[in-house]
Amino acid sequence: MIEQFNRDGTLRHLITLAHLNRTQLNALLDHAETYLVGHAHYAPREPRLLGRTVALLFFEPSTRTRVSFHLAATRLSADVVTLDGDASSRVKGETLLDTVRTLEAMHTDVFVVRTAEAGIPALLAGHIGRGKALINAGEAHCEHPTQGLLDVLTIRQHKPDIRNLCVAIVGDIRHSRVARSAAQALGILEVGELRLVGPEPLLPDTNEFDGAVRYAELEPGLRDADVIMALRIQRERMQKEAGIPSNDAYFKRFGLTAERLKAARSDVIVMHPGPINREVEISSAVADGPHSVIGRQVTNGVAVRMAVLARIAEGLSGTP
Ligand code: CP
Repeated sequence: MIEQFNRDGTLRHLITLAHLNRTQLNALLDHAETYLVGHAHYAPREPRLLGRTVALLFFEPSTRTRVSFHLAATRLSADVVTLDGDASSRVKGETLLDTVRTLEAMHTDVFVVRTAEAGIPALLAGHIGRGKALINAGEAHCEHPTQGLLDVLTIRQHKPDIRNLCVAIVGDIRHSRVARSAAQALGILEVGELRLVGPEPLLPDTNEFDGAVRYAELEPGLRDADVIMALRIQRERMQKEAGIPSNDAYFKRFGLTAERLKAARSDVIVMHPGPINREVEISSAVADGPHSVIGRQVTNGVAVRMAVLARIAEGLSGTP
């Protein structure tokens, strides 16, 4: 297991939320709040990463995570380099470890990695030099720690009493790193009730998501929920689609519509990590409606990633 904290308590890597305690998690959320000024602005730039280099290594597509890490690093005054998997020397046979070593030789301080392969962020973190850091920006179906942080930050902003909340995650939970990281964060914050709602083939194995209640029908799963987190069907992670409903069939049974939302509490918030597939897992009326906090999640993403980078900056070695 990779140690995520230095001996002095500063953050070294962020691979998973699973081993954070409540104090560490809340400290990151509180730090992120300092970068939010009302709904329209982020706080002024800070020099925390001046002279440091942050490399964004994305070996899977991304819009939100990649752009928000870029903005976050820039707002902390870092130099930022971006490497797309398909356009790097990886296609000429270079190993990922050699790619990372090449960037290390150019004095990269922080590696932000997205990968379709489980275990890669921890593996790379185990090989990079002392005083360098790695942040997991999405790993297969397993982990998406900064998404988990921005999700609980968004929930906390709207409904601070997390111990008394009922959160329903709806959709393809089986293939979702977002669901796993959200469940970890909500577990650390001792959420009142966590529900997993979806057709049986899209629900996780029963030995996962300890303590969560499973629903194979939508309406009972939404009843009196305070928070609904909708997820898209991740067909790109499936070996075969046997038993997985078509988009139309899925929308008929599990699509979040304004009518179905009536089962939840009247002040329910609706979340979605994006990208959204409209009229598949969520109707436009709900995605763009008064309960939606999807735009707020995106705004919070920059602040959360600034907080993680700022905490990591404290533990980087050498003078920049
Ligand atoms: N939520 C999320 O990870 O979105 P992207 O794939 O666009 O980064």
